[in-house]
Amino acid sequence: MRTTTNIGLEGKVAVITGGASGIGLSTARLFSRHGAKVVIADVQDDLGQSVCRYLNPSSTTFIHCNVTNEKDVENAVNTATAKYGKLDIMFNNAGFSDLAKPNILDNNKADFEQVLRVKLVGVFLGIKHATRVMMGARKGIIINTASVCSVIGGAASHAYTSSKHGVEGLKKNTAGVGGVYSNLKGAVLKAKDVAEAVLYLGSDESKYVSGHNLIVDGGYTIVNSRFCMFEQS
Ligand SMILES: NC(=O)c1ccc[n+]([C@@H]2O[C@H](COP(=O)([O-])OP(=O)(O)OC[C@H]3O[C@@H](n4cnc5c(N)ncnc54)[C@H](O)[C@@H]3O)[C@@H](O)[C@H]2O)c1
Repeated sequence: MRTTTNIGLEGKVAVITGGASGIGLSTARLFSRHGAKVVIADVQDDLGQSVCRYLNPSSTTFIHCNVTNEKDVENAVNTATAKYGKLDIMFNNAGFSDLAKPNILDNNKADFEQVLRVKLVGVFLGIKHATRVMMGARKGIIINTASVCSVIGGAASHAYTSSKHGVEGLKKNTAGVGGVYSNLKGAVLKAKDVAEAVLYLGSDESKYVSGHNLIVDGGYTIVNSRFCMFEQS
């Protein structure tokens, strides 16, 4: 029988950006359950604080962090090391989903730039500041959430990317996509499914897995290799 002690995460310290809801919250819950200390770094202060109270106030900390702001990211990483003595895992996960606009003419520059700020610059800052403290320890794990159409690579001694596609039920605009985007009949992708992949990547069990792009999409990209965001006329 599986117990909470048989995954190699006990005593590890993790920063999870975007940890107040969705995949980040699900990961914080799993990490916490497996004995990790977790710093939730998010812009949703009230929600992040109540998540920490609910998970475990003695091993979970909330820090306000807008990942597009370098000082905030630096502060989140420094909070982990000051409070828990080290940083083992940086999970760059903050982001947002908007209504899909498959016609490129419906997409505007400001929205596109905001995506780049959060999901590109934010990930860069997370990697940079995690590496700053991990280099001293000569070890550490960096995991980035990406979507199948925007895979972002990590850069560290031990770096991973967890990609995923359409988590059902998290957003009104993605509700019901599980059955459409997966080739697994009856299986519906949940935030916890992605969190379980992150748990593996963050644990000792994956110690020889590096630079890996773990796609949690029910096989969609295998059977639809020409995943195309924009419509063709
Ligand atoms: N849900 C999906 O189907 C889907 C698909 C592909 C990729 N993703 C990506 O997965 C990640 C998690 O998504 P989710 O579905 O759990 O979304 P979610 O909205 O439930 O959670 C995202 C979290 O990120 C936080 N956040 C947003 N902007 C931030 C910022 N600038 N700084 C710090 N925190 C910020 C939000 O407050 C929220 O708590 C995102 O990067 C998202 O783009 C999700």
